[in-house]
Amino acid sequence: MDYMKPFGVDLDLSKGVMKNPATHIVRQASSMRGHYADAAALERLIAAGDPVHYEVAEQPVPDAPGQMRFGISTTLPGTVGGECFMTKGHYHAVPDTAEVYVGLRGQGYLLMKTVEGECLWEEFRPGRVIYVPPFWAHRTVNTGEEPLVSFYVYPGNAGHNYGDIEKQGFPVRVLKRGGKVEFVKTRSK
Ligand code: F6R
Ligand code: ZN
Repeated sequence: MDYMKPFGVDLDLSKGVMKNPATHIVRQASSMRGHYADAAALERLIAAGDPVHYEVAEQPVPDAPGQMRFGISTTLPGTVGGECFMTKGHYHAVPDTAEVYVGLRGQGYLLMKTVEGECLWEEFRPGRVIYVPPFWAHRTVNTGEEPLVSFYVYPGNAGHNYGDIEKQGFPVRVLKRGGKVEFVKTRSK
């Protein structure tokens, strides 16, 4: 049999980065249109320099059910019209696939929602493991003052479904006003 070869990668846990990632995705404010409630505030931020909202570093593995895809996700601190910087969020394209996150650095939350509209969240902090069960969409939100860095691992065949989140959004928004974090329900479902 032609076996895939084992490999290792180095993480710098003090900085919360993966050394020499094969894939490095960078999402700036301009790729976040439609995700924040205050579209005008987002446009002002884009015009003022289009800052990075989050980055993902990965070592790709084959898209097969027995494989495990893993990497480091870094969401930067900041707000858009009071709403904390966040990732787009997604369901997995194969919806009955789970994911495990481990907080490495920074503070925030993993918002999770079902297709029926139930929305729950778990706190991110260094050393905290968050389990995302099958069928739950997930979005990282940075409520702190430094980058929020996490390690994640999920099945190689899971894929991503962003379209449904672009249509539905999340029923809860995370705001920071006067240094206080607030969870605001935007609809009952
Ligand atoms: C993979 C996963 C994370 C996110 C990353 C960026 O399934 O959940 O690696 O992909 O935090 O967020 P999205 O993919 O929502 O832009
Ligand atoms: Zn995921």
